[in-house]
Order: sequence, then C-alpha cells, then structure tokens
Amino acid sequence: MPEEKALSTQLIHHPYQPPAGFMAPQPGVYKASTVIFPNVAALQARDWKEKAGYTYGLHGTPTTFLLEERIATLEGGTHTLLVPSGLAAITLVDMALLNSGDEVLIPDNAYGPGKELARQELSHWGIAHRFYDPANPAALAAMIGPATKLLWLEAPGSVTMEFPDLSALVRVARDKGVLSALDNTWGSGLAFNAFDLGEGLGVDISAHALTKFPSGGGDVLMGSVTTRDHALHLRLKGTHMRMGWGVGMNDVEAVLHALPSLALRYAAQDAAGRTLAMWWQQQPQVSQVLHPALPGSPGHAHWASLCSQAAGLFSVVFDERHERSQVHAFVDALQLFKLGYSWAGPVSLVVPYDLSVIRPGSAWRGTLVRFSLGLEDVADLRADLAQALRAAFGAG
Ligand SMILES: Cc1ncc(COP(=O)(O)O)c(C=O)c1O
Repeated sequence: MPEEKALSTQLIHHPYQPPAGFMAPQPGVYKASTVIFPNVAALQARDWKEKAGYTYGLHGTPTTFLLEERIATLEGGTHTLLVPSGLAAITLVDMALLNSGDEVLIPDNAYGPGKELARQELSHWGIAHRFYDPANPAALAAMIGPATKLLWLEAPGSVTMEFPDLSALVRVARDKGVLSALDNTWGSGLAFNAFDLGEGLGVDISAHALTKFPSGGGDVLMGSVTTRDHALHLRLKGTHMRMGWGVGMNDVEAVLHALPSLALRYAAQDAAGRTLAMWWQQQPQVSQVLHPALPGSPGHAHWASLCSQAAGLFSVVFDERHERSQVHAFVDALQLFKLGYSWAGPVSLVVPYDLSVIRPGSAWRGTLVRFSLGLEDVADLRADLAQALRAAFGAG
C-alpha cells in the first residue's frame, strides 16, 4: 500500500478518535447496520442473543440497548424488545408463541387490529382464536382447553374503556398453565405494574405501543415487548430476529428524549381527562361517560383497586335519540380537538365510532365518541367542546 493514502480513503479511515468520557443530559445516538469486530475471534465469540457485545445493527446498538433497558424498568420487567409499531408488538407475541393447532383467547374489547390479525393471518396459519368477555373470569376459565396457549389482556378495553379484574384473569391463566400477555399501552407502566399485580400475580408479557405515551409527540411509531422471564424473552427474541423487525435510530432517539417527561405528561393528561370526563357527565346529550376513574364507569372498582392514575383518554356515548349525523356535525365543529387516530401526543384528538360495528351485541345504543387529551389548556378544550355542542345541538 502507498504510504500516503488517497483523500477518499483518509476520509473513511481517519485516525482521529475523540476523547472518551463525554457526558451530556441526552445519550449519544449510534447508527449502524454493520458493526465492526476487532478480529475473527471476536466475530466468532459474540452471541446476538446476549447484550454482552454487538453483532449487527438489527440485533442492537448502544442506543437500542439503552431504550430497551429503560422500557424494561418502566414496566417492571427485565427484558425488552423493540419493534416498529405497537401492532408489531402484538404480532411478535402471537408469532413467537403460537403454532398451528393452538388457540389464542382475546378480550372482545381488545384493540381492533389485533383482533383482525387473529381473524386473518392467524386463521390462515391454522391458529384458532376466540373472543372472551373480560368481565367474566369464570366464563373465561371454562373456555380454556388443551389447545389454548395464550391469553391476551387489555386494561381498560379499547374505545369502550371497561376495566377488567386483571388479577382474576391472570389467575385463571396461571392456574390453567396458559401464558398471559397484556396490551399495556394505556397503563404505560405508570398506572399499575403489570408484572406485580399483588398476591404474587403478574402477566408473563407486556406489549406496549411506545407510539403513545413514551413517544408523546405524535410523530413516532414504535412498540415493545417486555418480560421478566429470560427463557420466554429468548423465544420472543428468536422470532424478532428472524422477522428482521428493526427500529430506526432517529425514532429511538426521539423516544429516549421524551421518556424523562413521561410521568409529567401522563399526570397532566390524566388530570385534564378527568376534568373533561366529569364535565361531560353534566351534558344532556350523552347517556354515558366511559372513563375507568369515574364511578359508574364499567370496571371502576377494578381500576380503583389497582390504580391511582389513568391515561387522558375517555369516551362518551351520545343518547340514541340523536342522529349519527348530528354527532358527526359536533365532531366536525371541534377546532382544538383534531379528528385523528392515536393518543398521548400534544394535540387533543377525537374519533367517532359506530358501536354496532366495533361492539356488535353490546348493550350501548347510540354513537360513541372517543377523546384523547393533548397538552392544551383544559379550559380552552372545554370551551371548544361547548362551542361544538352548541353548533351541532343548539342551546342544549
Ligand atoms: C391499545 C392499543 N394497542 C396497540 C396499538 C397499536 O399501536 P401502533 O399504532 O403503534 O401500531 C394502539 C394504537 O392505537 C392501541 O390503541
């Protein structure tokens, strides 16, 4: 090789190394597909399954390891995997733990796309599913048979917000020898500890849409799967590796950046959510306000026995005497609440749902509207709701 290397080579193989020991409030961000090994022995010795070293970008960088460890701490678990969305977290659990001939039980009020995954892909792969009523642990126990391998839990249910007796459901799974997996997006590791529900009970797996509270910005899609069991973690990790579900370092950086304010945002959105949910209880147009922290809401006693906090998320059921078009006119008249899916970002959001589509057979009649609180001033949000009610329904 010539003594003096070409400029193009020098710019790639530059000898300068910055001094070690740099410290700042935010961790550095490491981006890599390729990880460089110092020698063949190191290449052969390193195991992608363990966090002792680095093998390939998909299997971890200092940046993903940091977020994994922080999410594990947040949730009270010990091992976390990152995936590209909350829905991918649900998919990872299903794919890793279910085989053809197995059955999975899913609450009938679970996040809709997770139910659709069972109806479509899982069915195509010969994996059966049934939906169960999370308010009835005894009926659930009777449904579990030899083929049942996984029990999904969600607290509270998506959109209709019923809070189940989580301990009773987990006890059913444990007594029957079935793995339990919770969609922990609502609790976010703050409202309750999914791995320690009391009396020695806890879920086996927590799936979390980091898209919501941990990201907090409405601009990142990411999910996580957390366990306290190393062997179970390795089962999940094997599927995670073979599926190639990596996450982008800019997104990981964004979540790491947002985590320090998670508890403050959660508490602020909780306070605003309860203020507005109680305001809705006074409005004559609605027949029910669905917020687990409000007495009278389905499962309130279960929420109260497990949690002191709640996510800033609730639904209202408009009385069935009101036409759906009138409810839609109310939603369209909102100015600060924006019409869009997801929750936990800075902007308050609203979505109307047709109960006959999302919960066929439920006792509720009328149109449901779900609100997700952002970080705007709550008095401004209340004024927005009031003006939209006047616009769609007149003086009251
Ligand atoms: C309860 C719940 N779980 C999972 C998800 C999926 O998250 P993502 O949008 O990141 O796929 C959502 C999204 O709305 C959700 O509400």
